[in-house]
Amino acid sequence: MKRMIDDEFFWFRRNRIVIPGVAGEHRFLHVTDTHISTFDEQSTPEEREETEKKEAMWESYKERFARGLLDFAKGNDEPYGDAQRISTVAAFEKILALAQELEPEALLLSGDNLERMHPAGARYLARRLREYGRPFLCVPGNHEDPECEGVWSRGVRTMDFGGFRICAVDNGQRTVALADLDALRAICAEGVPVIVLCHVPIATAACRAEMAKRIEYFYIDEKSEDENARAFVELCVQSDAVRAILCGHVHGYHAMEFAPGKAQIIGSQGMAGAIDLVTVAGSAE
Ligand SMILES: [Fe+2]
Repeated sequence: MKRMIDDEFFWFRRNRIVIPGVAGEHRFLHVTDTHISTFDEQSTPEEREETEKKEAMWESYKERFARGLLDFAKGNDEPYGDAQRISTVAAFEKILALAQELEPEALLLSGDNLERMHPAGARYLARRLREYGRPFLCVPGNHEDPECEGVWSRGVRTMDFGGFRICAVDNGQRTVALADLDALRAICAEGVPVIVLCHVPIATAACRAEMAKRIEYFYIDEKSEDENARAFVELCVQSDAVRAILCGHVHGYHAMEFAPGKAQIIGSQGMAGAIDLVTVAGSAE
């Protein structure tokens, strides 16, 4: 039987996050920007119509992102062909099948999971992740609300993996709620290494050159107008606990250090087959 990992839809980036003291190797699947639009038997005609419109839009738009044919995606040159010309739901089904096959410790979804908050999309996502039946952690993106029943909720959510944690932080609207900032600060103060899962990347002195390839809309930085956004960036840079950031939003793969020894991995568009294989381990290979 053909393995999902050989499916032409997918293209992979391998990322290794080294956290001294972590025993063994922990494998994760990081996927972002799946932009699911769908409808079902409960949908209104308007919902169905909107889904058809959005699917048609992404059909060409995701290709232009991949090929760098948009002003704000210049320099992108990512795999794209017939295998990527599938609906957002067909793409998500493949992603779940891949996750079933690879059995990561958690499936990490870093936002714009849904193209827009729509009842059929929320139902589909919650149902399919429940049926998936394995651990997952999901944050909302700029296209989504702070809550989606059965998929994500308000507040910082944490998964422990023995020696490190992954913390889901909602920065989808290019800010972070004050309560979430406080919660993240308190978690960091416990001293256990943290990997932040969020939607919007950060730009810092260490990675400004890389992030400057993208327009300001795609990141938050120490100079952002929003006070909480600035505080979030500062916390990520200055806290010894924060070791890495996994995010999306940009629709192009980027990997960099945002501070010495701290990786920021920006996944590309999951709806076009981009998958980050993330290994967390105590030492380099
Ligand atoms: Fe997106």
